Amino acid sequence: MRQMVMVGFLQAQNCTTLASAWRHPDARRDFTSAAYYQYIGQVLEAGKFQMAFFDDRLAMPDIYGGNPAEVVANGVRVVKIDPVATMMAMGLGTKYLGVGSTASTTYYEPFDVARRFQTVDHMIGGRAAWNVVTSVNDGEAHNMGRDVHMEHDARYDRADEFMEIVLNCWESWDDDALVVDKKSGLFADPNKVRRQEFQGKYLKTSGTFTVPRSPQGHPVVIQAGSSPRGKVFSAKWAETVFVGYPDVEDGKKQYKEFKDAIAGHGRDPDSVTVNTIAYPVVAETRSEAEDKMALIDTLYKEVDGLSLLSEALNFDFKTKGMDEAFSAEELDGMSGMQAMRNRVMQQTGRNPTVRDFLEVTRRGRPREAIVGSAKDVADRLEQWFVERACDGFVVAGTHTPGTFEDFVKFVVPELQRRGLYQKDYKGATLRENLGLGMPQNGWWR
Ligand SMILES: Cc1cc2nc3c(=O)[nH]c(=O)nc-3n(C[C@H](O)[C@H](O)[C@H](O)COP(=O)(O)O)c2cc1C
Repeated sequence: MRQMVMVGFLQAQNCTTLASAWRHPDARRDFTSAAYYQYIGQVLEAGKFQMAFFDDRLAMPDIYGGNPAEVVANGVRVVKIDPVATMMAMGLGTKYLGVGSTASTTYYEPFDVARRFQTVDHMIGGRAAWNVVTSVNDGEAHNMGRDVHMEHDARYDRADEFMEIVLNCWESWDDDALVVDKKSGLFADPNKVRRQEFQGKYLKTSGTFTVPRSPQGHPVVIQAGSSPRGKVFSAKWAETVFVGYPDVEDGKKQYKEFKDAIAGHGRDPDSVTVNTIAYPVVAETRSEAEDKMALIDTLYKEVDGLSLLSEALNFDFKTKGMDEAFSAEELDGMSGMQAMRNRVMQQTGRNPTVRDFLEVTRRGRPREAIVGSAKDVADRLEQWFVERACDGFVVAGTHTPGTFEDFVKFVVPELQRRGLYQKDYKGATLRENLGLGMPQNGWWR
């Protein structure tokens, strides 16, 4: 029987995706400690989550007002420790939970990414994943020594080349290349380790990769692009996908289109799981959950929404009045998350204002939170899953570790009782737990 995938949406930060999360009375303050991440990992593992993954951005959202003072004072996603090091800490504190981290194809080198993730995959016994992003804004460009962020679709063209190099690296050692025979003196079979020569439009490399295959071959590839070009990239490369479908009807449509696109690449669409974001706010009873939600709503500040919009759209929202419409030129120049911009334009049906962006995107506030008892939340997740609007959920926290403790305590047993969700792990590696086989060399060519 088909069962749900469950992914914990984590941040190696001072808050969750909700900038206000650090203000919650139950939020922990030790977000730079290994103990904090290991505890969250253990909670997710008790709830049989297949994976936890850390998102990332290579800058704080100080594009807003061109100055860090306001976002620093308000704690709007300003602490971002390295997610790969953090995922390693979490992986070492857990046994079965897959752990993933985000790394940018625009700002890192493919050899480095291939080596770092493959190393973590070894260290934690084949449970690592890489969330491939192309990054979104000039703040990231400036931190990484560039003048401007690359143009949207060109980023993905570059990312295609990046993927070829990374996969070539990961495929350059055969599963059985290592011999380590002291008697014969043979360390590894030279016929099973290949050199790579790559010359593309954006990237080149020439050399031999230095990390052998891991217990699951190599890390699982995650992708979450939602623009038309992003989806083409995702359908080609992703082994599991993260999306943020707005409602179940739209989700069903996009899910089917996306699965068709995967099949269009000659790949098996059932093997690539599509996981949509869910913000559960759950308690023993519906009215207790509503009280919890009411508290969460009080934590939001307008600076959260405005600075996160500026970050996502690569445009300083402080330069506009609240009810001033954006010009066509300004809208055109927004080079960040274009699917977000397109949705706002579609829903307002005219040139949107700052207020329209805040209202349509609800940036900084929980979008479509699922508030209720275990039954209420499970009913909603079941509907999405059974009607094929998704294969699983990226569970996002209103605060940590509270959201995950509540979800594991209330929702997980209800889903398990309904047979919709695993009662135990299927294997030791992330690939086994996602139903992915060992990767076959060259499947992507
Ligand atoms: C669950 C989820 C997690 C994401 N995590 C990140 C992230 O960590 N860093 C990032 O830059 N973008 C992240 N994104 C956004 C996408 O990866 C992508 O960068 C964004 O949609 C812009 O690309 P697009 O214009 O192709 O949509 C995430 C999206 C989803 C749905």
